[in-house]
Amino acid sequence: MAQAVSLTRFLIEEQRAGRAPADLRLLLDVVARAAKTIGVKVSKGALAGMLGEAGTENVQGEAQKKLDVIANEILLQANEWGGHLAAMASEELENVHQIPCDHPRGDYLLLFDPLDGSSNIDINVTVGTIFSVLENPRRDHAPAEADFLQPGRKQVAAGYVTYGPSTQLVLTVGNGVHAFTLDRETGEFIHTHPFMTVPEDTREFAINASNARHWEKPVQRYITELQQGKDGPRGVDFNMRWVASMVADVHRVLTRGGIFLYPLDEKIRLQGGRLRLMYEANPMAMLIEQAGGAASTGRERILDLQPQKLHQRVPVILGSRNEVERVVAYHREG
Ligand code: AHG
Ligand code: MN
Ligand code: MN
Repeated sequence: MAQAVSLTRFLIEEQRAGRAPADLRLLLDVVARAAKTIGVKVSKGALAGMLGEAGTENVQGEAQKKLDVIANEILLQANEWGGHLAAMASEELENVHQIPCDHPRGDYLLLFDPLDGSSNIDINVTVGTIFSVLENPRRDHAPAEADFLQPGRKQVAAGYVTYGPSTQLVLTVGNGVHAFTLDRETGEFIHTHPFMTVPEDTREFAINASNARHWEKPVQRYITELQQGKDGPRGVDFNMRWVASMVADVHRVLTRGGIFLYPLDEKIRLQGGRLRLMYEANPMAMLIEQAGGAASTGRERILDLQPQKLHQRVPVILGSRNEVERVVAYHREG
């Protein structure tokens, strides 16, 4: 039987191939270790008093779950002392998190959504952690928000971890998308899905259809055509899925294809969209493009957006290339 390849071995081989400098390898190993700890807390659930509200709000005015706060703390603490990071930014923190001055400062910036899909925690449905890695552009001083505001195409690594029936880590360092499944007995992430690809075509879509009346015309047109199925202009039936955890919905798209949409709508126009550019849209867009799919706001490629602020929100349309291109064409036609 072929020997199982662990995440550690995979990263060392990426380093040897010149695709992951030693500090990036260390960073990714630390993120994976933190994710294992988060996964343990998530799986304990009610047994360890992990469910429910924290009683606080984050910077975006969203009620925090206990696990949002705990996952955030685990990621911050795990990444502070390794010497590989210059600073961190989190969906749950208002400002840039500096590395404490008793630890050395490294060359990378780490951004994360510590717990994605947190409305699903209390009902025991898949949640996850999403992360993005950038280089620190100015190495001579403590990073400020402006140093994080780099377009997504500059990410040197991106990934997510799903805490579902199994815990899986999905990663790209710019050479395809690779998934690792946690072996709970040995504690190792094992390379189980090399070079994942998103099929160009799909008959499955994911959108929160309760917002239909607020969508812009191009999205209404696209979804109506899918719903008309065999009887409409597409001439085939489409199926719909919506987990309400972006990690789970994107993981399905990466595994068997599909299109995922959280478009702009009238309710959220002023805030720019629902999902966050730096913690959700950019890392997922890098993964989807690395797997051969496409990711757009409907009007622009997500990875080309110039971020204006850390907690910026954007419309997200990603997945199977031909479907995403069709939605973009409908936006162009107006
Ligand atoms: P978070 O839990 O980090 O705030 O993110 C939730 C996001 C995303 O995971 C999901 O796709 C979307 O919100 C669900 O939105 P609806 O509540 O509109 O379904
Ligand atoms: Mn999220
Ligand atoms: Mn979150």
